[in-house]
Amino acid sequence: MTSDAFLVRDSGPLHGEVVTGGAKNSALKLVAAALLAEGRSVIENVPEIDDIAAMADVAVALGAEVSRPEPHTIVLDVPPRLEVVTHPNLVGRLRASIVVLGPLLAREGRARLAMPGGCNLGNRSIDLHLAGLAKLGAEISYGADAIEARVDGRLRGADIELPFASVGATENLLQAAVTARGVTRISNAAREPEISDLAAFLRAMGGDIQGDGTSEIVVRGVDALAPAHHRVIGDRIEAGTFAVGAALTGGDVHITDVDPSHLHLPLEKLSQMGADVFATDRGFRVRGTGGLRALDIVTLPYPGFPTDLQPQFLALLSQAQGTAIVTENVFDGRFSIVSELERLGAEIELQAHHAVVRGPRALSGAIVAATDLRAGAALVLAGLAAEGTTVVQEARHVDRGYADLAARLTALGADVERRVDDRVAVSS
Ligand code: UD1
Repeated sequence: MTSDAFLVRDSGPLHGEVVTGGAKNSALKLVAAALLAEGRSVIENVPEIDDIAAMADVAVALGAEVSRPEPHTIVLDVPPRLEVVTHPNLVGRLRASIVVLGPLLAREGRARLAMPGGCNLGNRSIDLHLAGLAKLGAEISYGADAIEARVDGRLRGADIELPFASVGATENLLQAAVTARGVTRISNAAREPEISDLAAFLRAMGGDIQGDGTSEIVVRGVDALAPAHHRVIGDRIEAGTFAVGAALTGGDVHITDVDPSHLHLPLEKLSQMGADVFATDRGFRVRGTGGLRALDIVTLPYPGFPTDLQPQFLALLSQAQGTAIVTENVFDGRFSIVSELERLGAEIELQAHHAVVRGPRALSGAIVAATDLRAGAALVLAGLAAEGTTVVQEARHVDRGYADLAARLTALGADVERRVDDRVAVSS
């Protein structure tokens, strides 16, 4: 089987301006949330990526009419009654599609979903989603390939304390609680900016939600929601990926249409490593100064360091002076990039959920594979700093979350292109 690959050649410093797209991890959940209200909802600043297309297909399978009247806008016409069964091929493509469980229970009182797919990142369970929904009154049964949930009458508000501040569970519970009877309190809720974006959309639909952005969210159930218009926030992870590219190449890049406060810790780390980072009126700017210094990184729920930027920082740290310890606390499978970076010449030692990076080591081009979305982006960045040509196979993983990555890096002066049938291209 062949798949597209990125061909990356050692490039000089990245220079210029890049516009951040809408946040993938918010837009996906907003498409699900639109199902909560009959009628036409409009979501703007939606990224043109494969995961969104997959979520739109899930919404269509549940009975919505979905149109894209112009790039970056999704219009959902939601019928009075929704389908409650999804085909395994659809939900299996995308793990985030588990968030339709809350809206389906709220609207129809029942749902049958195939077990979700998505990035292969070790143990990505959904027990917290299911336990929370059970507290709201749902009866849940699940086997190896499907989850069935139902509720007699309406969901009922409850006090739910999450043992871990799960983003997906918080989103599912918010959507289930917003039209439940009574008050729901979610303690140890996730605080990610994408949670606040979802809460803002639900409020625009008539929901009564307070405390989003903190670990204690209070939802007062309303009888029904109305459709709404919403603009998705900028994608902090995409912006952070370009920021790493600027620092890695010693470049100077203005990254616009994103709120730099959503990247507080990663930008702080970049500046401690030696890059100049400053906020602008439209986003922020990163200027590599050469001579990066190593430092330690520990991934944690927001406002901690995001797991979705960990692979990009591994690539960066391979070029920094000194020894860095990177600790991954969120996903087991997140170090699958390490063997690929080693192929390029990085020196990284794995010890359970710690990676010890010794740098700087000169990188040189090789054939590597994108093992997941963020690993793929990180390998493209590493290729910019590697001598010769780096081929990043399995580019389709990157398409799940980055629109036109090659073209946008090229616009900043990088030498990156897409090739079909990479294995032929490499051997020729
Ligand atoms: C995670 C990230 C989020 C990122 C998204 C996309 C965190 C905390 N979350 O969200 O920032 O945008 O990936 O890559 O960094 N877990 C359970 N049971 C559950 C739910 C989760 O054990 O029911 C565990 C997972 O196995 C994992 C951790 O909790 O170890 C993170 O889960 P969660 O925040 O729910 O993941 P996502 O919603 O995918």
